[in-house]
Amino acid sequence: MAEQKQHSGGREAEGPRHVAIIMDGNGRWAQARGRPRLFGHHAGAKRVREIVEACPDLGVKYLTIFAFSTENWKRTQKEVAGLMSLFRRYIQKEAQDMLARGVRTRFIGDRVRLEPKLVDLMDELELLTAENDRVHLTIALNYGGRDEVTRAARRMAFDVAAGKLDPRDVDEETLPRYLDTCVLPDPDLVIRTSGEARISNFLLWQSAYAEYEFIDTLWPDFTPEIFAEVVARYGRRERRFGAVLSE
Ligand code: IPE
Ligand code: IPE
Ligand code: MG
Repeated sequence: MAEQKQHSGGREAEGPRHVAIIMDGNGRWAQARGRPRLFGHHAGAKRVREIVEACPDLGVKYLTIFAFSTENWKRTQKEVAGLMSLFRRYIQKEAQDMLARGVRTRFIGDRVRLEPKLVDLMDELELLTAENDRVHLTIALNYGGRDEVTRAARRMAFDVAAGKLDPRDVDEETLPRYLDTCVLPDPDLVIRTSGEARISNFLLWQSAYAEYEFIDTLWPDFTPEIFAEVVARYGRRERRFGAVLSE
């Protein structure tokens, strides 16, 4: 398993190596302009590229973005269909560019409920960019933290039943190997835009010791400058991981 963070003692935070973003506020952004919600989703999608591009200079090697949650199916059929079509077109449009810019793209979330055409595009993009290493972009699509842990537990149970895993060996190192994020380090910083202060089922296991930033900016207004400010604030935080650093 790749580079799990040490949580054994406290230390001063440097730059965040892994930033995760809950890209929220597209609907309100569109509403404020008297436009349909999907207009906001398109504006939001356009922001992603510049945020990914800002990562190397900020020392961010891993960027994980929340694009669609397991709860977002509750939205109108029109919005859900519009989002799925946006994801398809986004992958088709950005694939070659991601390849050229050294972006390695992965997807997390349950693919079973997604339409096959979209899943094919996701698989192709993962394969296409598999050799890249400049920035690791992970897109959470039909992702829910509880769903992910549940699927992991189910797969572990199958491995136990098949005699491949001894129940006595199930510990805090074993479970994350079954998560969708198994090859990623834990996020150091989780940012949520749009002023809502909740995690909405995002990276529940992985964010146990992440630093959080809830900022008022709506996602389509989130610029690389704002991103840089948030990352700089992170650098001034003291991460203790439960330890006492100074008496
Ligand atoms: C986030 O923006 C994008 C998705 C959840 C797909 P929202 O669509 O949640 O925008 P608001 O929160 O309604 O403004
Ligand atoms: C979280 O935003 C999901 C994504 C950003 C994809 P939501 O807008 O769906 O979350 P709630 O409903 O406000 O908690
Ligand atoms: Mg929202």
